[in-house]
Amino acid sequence: MTDFAGKIAFITGGASGAGFGMAQVFSEAGMKVVIADVRRDHIEEAMDYFRQTEAEVHAIELDVTDREGFAAAADEVERVFGSAPDLLILNAGVNVGGPVESSTYEDFDWIIGVCFGGVINGMMTFVPRMIKAGKGGHIAATASYGAFGAYPFVAPYSAAKAATLNLMESYYLALERYGIGVSVLTPANINSNIYDAALKTRPEKYKNTGYSVSEEGQLRMASFNRKGLEPRDLAMRLKKGIEDGIFLIVPYEHGGRMVELAMDRFKHYTSVEGMKYLKEKAKQPPTEEEIALMNERENFEVSKIKR
Ligand SMILES: NC(=O)c1ccc[n+]([C@@H]2O[C@H](COP(=O)([O-])OP(=O)(O)OC[C@H]3O[C@@H](n4cnc5c(N)ncnc54)[C@H](O)[C@@H]3O)[C@@H](O)[C@H]2O)c1
Repeated sequence: MTDFAGKIAFITGGASGAGFGMAQVFSEAGMKVVIADVRRDHIEEAMDYFRQTEAEVHAIELDVTDREGFAAAADEVERVFGSAPDLLILNAGVNVGGPVESSTYEDFDWIIGVCFGGVINGMMTFVPRMIKAGKGGHIAATASYGAFGAYPFVAPYSAAKAATLNLMESYYLALERYGIGVSVLTPANINSNIYDAALKTRPEKYKNTGYSVSEEGQLRMASFNRKGLEPRDLAMRLKKGIEDGIFLIVPYEHGGRMVELAMDRFKHYTSVEGMKYLKEKAKQPPTEEEIALMNERENFEVSKIKR
């Protein structure tokens, strides 16, 4: 997809952070944009911004785990802008960290429900409508660099993101014949508000957590996020990736090498020698190349690296 002007974009989690950056960039490219978000406060802030612009932006309060809500949102897009979206971005996500062995079912249900379930619900709602509309188009999901690794402190999140990457590859292969492109975006640290999801977005029914969640911990997370990639820069990389027809958009200059190194572990997991190699490697300090790539991803000098 290279021509955006006059077309319709639908962005979940579009009222904050990465999604808000995407709403800005695609509306500036001339698109009519729908931002769908569960947080009323985020929607109000985003719409305050768009009211100062010429952009055609429509907001819908939607919980991406709500399938009926998704269908109603899709009907609303057709009512307001006259047709199914040309560009669908399934971006809503939440995260909270804690030891995987302390996780509750509610930790899994909330994080996987939003991060992976929200993508499934978006695809189930919109793919048939986009095919029926016969206009082609593009679908992108925001996964995470976490999709390439296993991170015991954010295990439900990285599992959901790995599943998203895999699912979208199936759709990439399936939807080409309808003229619908598919991409996955895998950023690392973003300057967003994801740090406050555990205290402000998590629904009451999922309150039972096995992790230690505190204001102090969220503030520490916030100061880390503040150093991350700017949402508008990320959105520009997404737009370029869509224009170039790239499936896996790793938004860094050395993205291909990062993926190569991250996935290399799987071949070692298959043999006795490989297992020994990985255990030895875990005791070694990171190589200069690994440090340079980590700094590039996190967007700041990572001086103390815990392995
Ligand atoms: N912040 C990071 O460092 C980082 C890194 C890699 C990937 N990501 C991914 O980027 C995406 C965007 O997150 P962000 O970092 O911009 O965070 P953010 O919190 O600033 O924005 C996420 C938006 O999603 C919304 N949301 C949460 N639950 C929802 C639900 N059930 N239904 C609808 N909307 C919901 C939130 O209200 C928020 O407006 C997520 O998929 C996240 O996992 C973030």
